[in-house]
Amino acid sequence: MAKAARVVRQGVASNDLILSSHVGGNEHVFPQILDLYVLPGSRVADVTYGRGVFWKHVPEGQYEVLATDIETGIDCRALPYGDGSIDCLVLDPPYMHSPGGTAHVAHSAFEAYYQNNRANRTVLNYHEAVLDLYCRAIDEAQRVLRSRGVLIVKCQDEVCANQQRFTHIEIAQHCEQVGFQAEDLFVVQRMNRPGVSRVNRQVHARKNHSYFLVFWKRDGRRSIWERPMNAIELMQQIIKTQVPDNRWSGAPLGQFRQIENTNRGRVGEEFVRRYLKQFGIDAQPIAKSRLGVDLAIGDLRFEVKTASEDTKGGFQFNHVRYDREYDYLLCLGVQPDGLVFGCWSKEELATQQPGKLVRMAEGQSVTFKLRRRPEQLLPIHHLPTTLRSLLET
Ligand SMILES: C[S@@+](CC[C@H](N)C(=O)[O-])C[C@H]1O[C@@H](n2cnc3c(N)ncnc32)[C@H](O)[C@@H]1O
Repeated sequence: MAKAARVVRQGVASNDLILSSHVGGNEHVFPQILDLYVLPGSRVADVTYGRGVFWKHVPEGQYEVLATDIETGIDCRALPYGDGSIDCLVLDPPYMHSPGGTAHVAHSAFEAYYQNNRANRTVLNYHEAVLDLYCRAIDEAQRVLRSRGVLIVKCQDEVCANQQRFTHIEIAQHCEQVGFQAEDLFVVQRMNRPGVSRVNRQVHARKNHSYFLVFWKRDGRRSIWERPMNAIELMQQIIKTQVPDNRWSGAPLGQFRQIENTNRGRVGEEFVRRYLKQFGIDAQPIAKSRLGVDLAIGDLRFEVKTASEDTKGGFQFNHVRYDREYDYLLCLGVQPDGLVFGCWSKEELATQQPGKLVRMAEGQSVTFKLRRRPEQLLPIHHLPTTLRSLLET
């Protein structure tokens, strides 16, 4: 089967939006409507299949297609399907009706192809007969479609007995009456010029467009259409709910979260040391075992605590101790796309100036945790100035 240029939406971001108006053939528009409204794997009944032009560019196997036509003995007004058993129904009956004789001779070309008169003769004539076929087929669609099942109707307006008949509006009105919700409308414009008629003085615009109307079967729930999710989109959505904080994925500092907790402190210390070095401030690492502190800058000793922003948007600096020989506590907060810090002397900590220190564990009074919100900390570019002022006092 030939492949057409079509929009594929398998969870991949695309700028190729599906548009509402198209110049060209039905076979290029129809697959796009399916892409937007009908999940691959759906059971689709095309009840006026004809030559199957609509399906020319739909990859085989993408849908379970039930192709029927009056020509194959199945009337779209009496389908052999159970109630609520179909996901999507496609209806494209003849647009025009010819009662025979001399009236509407322009329709006779349609007759040969559309098979309207032979099987569909009703007591109604002209436009009413066209509409009657649509309406009865829509009633049958209402029966066989499942709740929220999609109905795609192809139609064209017509001027009948000098009267403008907006078929697409009449169809939409009937659909609404029998429990369908109108959801979308596609205009297909013919590429070739419509033939010249024998009308001498033009009264109405000559029609060179037709419609695909999209409806869905209301179910008494919300009347908002929810676009079905394909397998990849659905899986992506479920994965997202399980990822602790997706602000980190793909962010500049996102990989920080992939570092094991025990190594995050070391990364923080190295960052402070090398960052300050670029401003000519020499920070020397100190072996923990001796003093229990991390960095010496000039005469001052610093304990460095590093934390990443948590799901509540704050930082929790763990294992803060009073019994270490540091002068200042330097807290480094890592955000997905930024760094912030706070720096307090031991005295400030003791008087709880940066905030309340809470025991890490019930019953012990050695290690504490300090919670800070980003706005209670400073942007990292203030770090050199802050340290210089500490060193100068
Ligand atoms: C406009 S053509 C459909 C073209 C088709 N969508 C395609 O892509 O080739 C109309 C079709 O409706 C069929 N038809 C007419 N009356 C019908 C009825 N009562 N039930 C089912 N099919 C009918 C005709 O046989 C014809 O194939």
